Amino acid sequence: MDITPEARSRQLEERIAVDPGAFRILTGDRPTGPLHLGHYFGTLASRARLQHTGVELFVLVADYQVLTDRDVADHLSEYVEGLVADYLAAGIDPSTATIFRHSSVPALNQLMLPFLSLVSIAELSRNPTVKDEIATSRQAAVSGLMFTYPVHQAADILFCKANLVPVGRDQLPHQEITRTIARRFNERYGPVFPVPDALLSSAPLLLGTDGHKMSKSRGNAIALSATEDETARLVRRAVTDADRTITYAPETRPQVSGLVLLAALCQGRDPHTVAAEIGDGGAAALKKVVTDSVNEFLRPIRARRAELAADRAYLRGVLAEGEERANAIAQRTLEEVREAMAS
Ligand code: TRP
Repeated sequence: MDITPEARSRQLEERIAVDPGAFRILTGDRPTGPLHLGHYFGTLASRARLQHTGVELFVLVADYQVLTDRDVADHLSEYVEGLVADYLAAGIDPSTATIFRHSSVPALNQLMLPFLSLVSIAELSRNPTVKDEIATSRQAAVSGLMFTYPVHQAADILFCKANLVPVGRDQLPHQEITRTIARRFNERYGPVFPVPDALLSSAPLLLGTDGHKMSKSRGNAIALSATEDETARLVRRAVTDADRTITYAPETRPQVSGLVLLAALCQGRDPHTVAAEIGDGGAAALKKVVTDSVNEFLRPIRARRAELAADRAYLRGVLAEGEERANAIAQRTLEEVREAMAS
């Protein structure tokens, strides 16, 4: 019988705890701006945690996917280096992680051709996440890249034979396409690829300062790299409500509860306790607690990040090393694919 993705993820967490060396994670981000606290609590912290338990970690700077929902890739090299600085500041260890860009690993991209032959147009058009992304896209017309990028994502994951992909719920349809492609390839040409599992984060969804999902494009996100003043300004503008008594009730008071959760995550404490402490101090007291908690929590991360960002040669060196490794692996996989398809 099929189990839910959540139950499957809990099983996986148990197996990881027993045998971390059996897992290889591939995950990634598009270089479209600085990473924020939503990324940190949603995925960055767990990437670093899993890496330090002994899981092998591949992190993709998805530069060829920047153009899926926009016509131009602005500030690309600045965002690429910023992303690497964010990763390292958040605790990812570059001595064992492989950090690399699409554009530097040609053999990875070449896998897209055989993979495209394994999915139908109907399957691609049914993908609810792509439909959603098309609806909110900044492009006048839907490009072929947008339509087919879940297949590119399969190449991202399968080139290094990753068996674990930490994702948010919205990415599950993409993950299904990757699994379908791996299965079909193996059935048609012989066993080459693992069928990778999605690992859902157990962290609650973090809301931005406007009460909607925290996201770079909404202007409601607290970047890891923001200054303390910028953080204070953003929190001051946050939406709250008229009830002076602060409580944690995500269903009925999403904005206030979002802020309470942010402070609680930064303090590593229960949100109900944090809310009770603020009591009837109202929005002003809540905002002060949030600003102080966020700034205190991020202080060491920001200090590390500032040091890293000042050393661009080092950041480029981290990428160069990761890309050398990723290229060797991608070449090997492409060779295997060629042989499997030729025989
Ligand atoms: N699509 C992801 C995003 O927009 C980034 C990404 C690209 C990714 N390739 C991936 C994530 C492979 C996980 C696995 O954030």
